Amino acid sequence: MDKPKLSPPIHVGVIMDGNGRWAEKHGRNRSYGHKAGANLIEKVSKIMFASGVEYLSLYAFSTENFARPKEEVDYLMNLLKTGIKKYGKACFDNKIKLTVSGDLNALSEELQSVISTYVKKTEIFEKPVMNICLNYGARQELCHAFNHIIESGISSVTPQDIDNALYTKLPPLDLIIRTGGEKRLSNFMLWQAVYAELYFTDVLWPDFTEEECLNALEWFSSRKRRFGKI
Ligand code: FPP
Repeated sequence: MDKPKLSPPIHVGVIMDGNGRWAEKHGRNRSYGHKAGANLIEKVSKIMFASGVEYLSLYAFSTENFARPKEEVDYLMNLLKTGIKKYGKACFDNKIKLTVSGDLNALSEELQSVISTYVKKTEIFEKPVMNICLNYGARQELCHAFNHIIESGISSVTPQDIDNALYTKLPPLDLIIRTGGEKRLSNFMLWQAVYAELYFTDVLWPDFTEEECLNALEWFSSRKRRFGKI
């Protein structure tokens, strides 16, 4: 008998943790781990979208990551530039909308220009959406939204007003996957995570295989979601 069809999460967030430890395990420098981590994105996004996921938010660089050594920050920024070019082209070819959430003003002009090229090129598509969180912090995003609301003169704020003023308009997260063994959200999409199911795995991000990805989706489909009701 065929297996029953799993109900996929609409919006999945991924905290791609463990690149540094993975590199160390292989006797290499941290950059090697980040590169291996970036290479995994194509495979994971293909599996997610083929499974029915409509929105995929990837935590690629947090606001706090700027406090890492300059050499690592420079490497990551360069990796993001080449990665966004590569995935931006792939998104266009596969009719995927590319969005980037974060404070983009602090990024180099070159990176901003690459982002803007592929965001514009793919804005004709509606779904699926690959959302890269870059120089992203949930607290910063909420402050950005509140400031926007204050400027607009609204005197009494609703959750809908906040949804509309976030960096990118996305549905709430259904599932957050965090690799690398830590069990925390680390300033990732705190507003959108309100009823998200949280899947933590010890697997380091560059080792997150197709099987691991399908395990996470299968685990999600077994969850009973009540949204505060009984
Ligand atoms: C966390 O692992 C990972 C990051 C801070 C960077 C993640 C970035 C990528 C995978 C590249 C993304 C590229 C594109 C194009 C979206 P860590 O360095 O904190 O690992 P550790 O906990 O083992 O030190």
